[in-house]
Amino acid sequence: MNAALRSGRSPRILLLGADGQLGWELRRALLPLGELVPMGRAQADLGDAAGLRALLSGLRPQVVVNAAAYTAVDRAQDEPEAAQRVNAEGPALLADYAAASGAWLLHYSTDYVFDGSGTRAWREDDAPRPLSVYGRSKLDGERAIRASGCAHLILRTSWVFAARGANFAKTMVRLAGERESLRVVADQVGAPTSAELIADLSALALHRLLREPELARANAGLYHLSSSGSTSWHGYACHVLEHVERRGMRLRCRAADVQAIGTADYPVPAPRPANSRLDCQALQAWLGVWLPPWQPQVERMLDEAYAL
Ligand SMILES: NC(=O)c1ccc[n+]([C@@H]2O[C@H](COP(=O)([O-])OP(=O)(O)OC[C@H]3O[C@@H](n4cnc5c(N)ncnc54)[C@H](OP(=O)(O)O)[C@@H]3O)[C@@H](O)[C@H]2O)c1
Repeated sequence: MNAALRSGRSPRILLLGADGQLGWELRRALLPLGELVPMGRAQADLGDAAGLRALLSGLRPQVVVNAAAYTAVDRAQDEPEAAQRVNAEGPALLADYAAASGAWLLHYSTDYVFDGSGTRAWREDDAPRPLSVYGRSKLDGERAIRASGCAHLILRTSWVFAARGANFAKTMVRLAGERESLRVVADQVGAPTSAELIADLSALALHRLLREPELARANAGLYHLSSSGSTSWHGYACHVLEHVERRGMRLRCRAADVQAIGTADYPVPAPRPANSRLDCQALQAWLGVWLPPWQPQVERMLDEAYAL
């Protein structure tokens, strides 16, 4: 373990991707855990290996939290090198630093590492088989971290939303204000998960790992973290529109006007998994928490984003 961590001093925590949906929430949730150094893309570019090395050797953080990622899933199909640089090579470099220095690395991954077959929720030890360039690049990032031997925690999550940043729920509200009807895919299923929840459980997990060094290695590794329950994109869109309407927002397209369509009726460059359900029992057992259903989290985010 890193000498500074062993000494019990407040750890220096480098947060990368601090302006994204999750990064923004981590800026809040990680504050009580140490000396937090949040950096957005302008200060720390995950695709710039030399810059990243210089940053790490200058700052010498005891914890690196990586919320930065190339998340443009469709664009990644045309930019595989860029996705690979940010989602695989950048994390590999962070892992090398962590392995050499004894620092902790907390990293995030995605349901898109799976092919979406079957109806059972995916467990951590199920074989990944990504369908898209984005999913492949995220899986390569996971594998590089695990192969480095560094002390790490990788949290795979799904369908992330937050009041700040772009996401499906906010896109639905905008489109429903502009159009009389919407067509939304009803045969892909997953769990919308709030960046707030991910950030709060990240802080709890990190607190455990830093406070219980003997148990830390045994509990480190890969975990699934999503809300409980599941829905389709169509079900999600209807829930969003029903809620904002109930709160008095005037829409051109109401929930009843959202048409359920199949994946084949909505062609996009990157194939998505049909079944994105994640089995989160391991994380619940380790942290002793209960993962809340997605609906109240979505409603709270909408109330906050639109001051409802
Ligand atoms: N969003 C989802 O639905 C979802 C689902 C499953 C898993 N995840 C995973 O959850 C994590 C957080 O995602 P999120 O929803 O917070 O994504 P996000 O809102 O898109 O945030 C990602 C952040 O990374 C930054 N970034 C992109 N390229 C970078 C680079 N080269 N160097 C440094 N920063 C860079 C982005 O900056 P710019 O805005 O300037 O590009 C953005 O601020 C990621 O690991 C993602 O793969 C997300």
